[in-house]
Amino acid sequence: MKIISIVGARPEFIQATPVSQALRANGAHHEILVHTGQHYDYLMSQTFFDELGTPAPDYNLEVKSGSHGQQTAVMLARLEEVFTAEKPDLVIIRGDTNSTLAGAVVASKMGIPLAHIEAGERSFDRRMPEEINRIISDSVADIHFCASQTALKNLAAEGITRSAHWVGDVMLDAVLANRHIAARNSTILQKLEVEPGQYALVTVHRAANTDDPQRLEAIVTALNIVAETVIFPAHPRTRAALQKINASFEPNVRVIDPVGYFDMLTLEDNARLIATDSGGVQREAYFLKKPCLTLRDETEWTETVSAGWNKLVGVQPDEVGRAWFDFSPPAEQPPIFGDGAAGKRIGEIISSQPVIFGQPRH
Ligand code: UD1
Ligand code: UDP
Repeated sequence: MKIISIVGARPEFIQATPVSQALRANGAHHEILVHTGQHYDYLMSQTFFDELGTPAPDYNLEVKSGSHGQQTAVMLARLEEVFTAEKPDLVIIRGDTNSTLAGAVVASKMGIPLAHIEAGERSFDRRMPEEINRIISDSVADIHFCASQTALKNLAAEGITRSAHWVGDVMLDAVLANRHIAARNSTILQKLEVEPGQYALVTVHRAANTDDPQRLEAIVTALNIVAETVIFPAHPRTRAALQKINASFEPNVRVIDPVGYFDMLTLEDNARLIATDSGGVQREAYFLKKPCLTLRDETEWTETVSAGWNKLVGVQPDEVGRAWFDFSPPAEQPPIFGDGAAGKRIGEIISSQPVIFGQPRH
């Protein structure tokens, strides 16, 4: 089969590799990787291809940043040109970004079968741009690959059942494949002069936190009052938002540039605690058995919360501060996200059954 895989944002580069490996094994399929160019800084894009050995994109659409409408519109036009030229048998999208949405809209309008990886995740908050992207993508996808059982249930509640498959989380595949390589290769702890278990790792990039000065101020205050070194690799969006509010940090908080995947895995693996609003980082905290405070009011990854490993703390300093040293997960950890073979399962399902455009999902 000729398959177009779409990637565009940081987590999608990381998720692409296990699936590409499965699709390309023994020359099973001809995969064409299309990078929309949504993320483009070296530390937001190329570093992941270099580290993970992800095949180089066959196309880079160089869409770059813009408002939602402008960015998505350019993606729609450029993806349509690629699909018209390549005539793929299947298009694969993943996650919930504007690149996901654009791939979904173009493939479905052109009558090309569409597979969605990480389907069915819901925050039930339609103010989140990602929630809109997910709902639209799932509603037009012909095959749905789910990372969790909750995702299957969410899809069933929307009438999507026959096309939905639980495969586990491809991000777990990536962590298991790279954790030890990262530990051998990364020198980030020495560079930052931090000791294992002696710091907390923080990431923030959600629009709800970066675009709302009050919420961002609250996060800054919370980090300033915790009595612990905080390593905070800042997404470019967050860096700009922090500058806009003239944020000032106490010496315990170290805001650094985004880091590559190996450095990130190493920082996660050695942190005492992780605090984040990232979907990927919440799951990685779970895989690496790190207590996680989620700086949001809701999460898609509810099983990590019910398992006791993730706590929704919002952004108010007293709430964050209270949980910072008190939160303690249980010893047990259920295997919510599978066994690290999600990419292989996706490859097998794609190879074993024809994906028919517009096939009834009920
Ligand atoms: C996007 C996704 C989000 C995902 C995140 C992963 C959407 C709507 N959101 O959010 O779901 O969690 O990626 O990181 O698709 N920028 C740079 N350099 C880059 C990339 C971005 O400077 O290489 C800056 C630009 O100012 C840009 C801003 O970051 O306007 C936001 O980038 P964008 O891709 O629009 O959204 P993210 O916040 O990255
Ligand atoms: N990540 C990284 N370097 C960083 C921050 C994050 O490599 O400085 C990785 C992280 O380990 C995870 C993915 O990027 O695999 C998560 O991406 P992000 O938080 O941007 O998006 P989300 O998962 O929320 O969509």
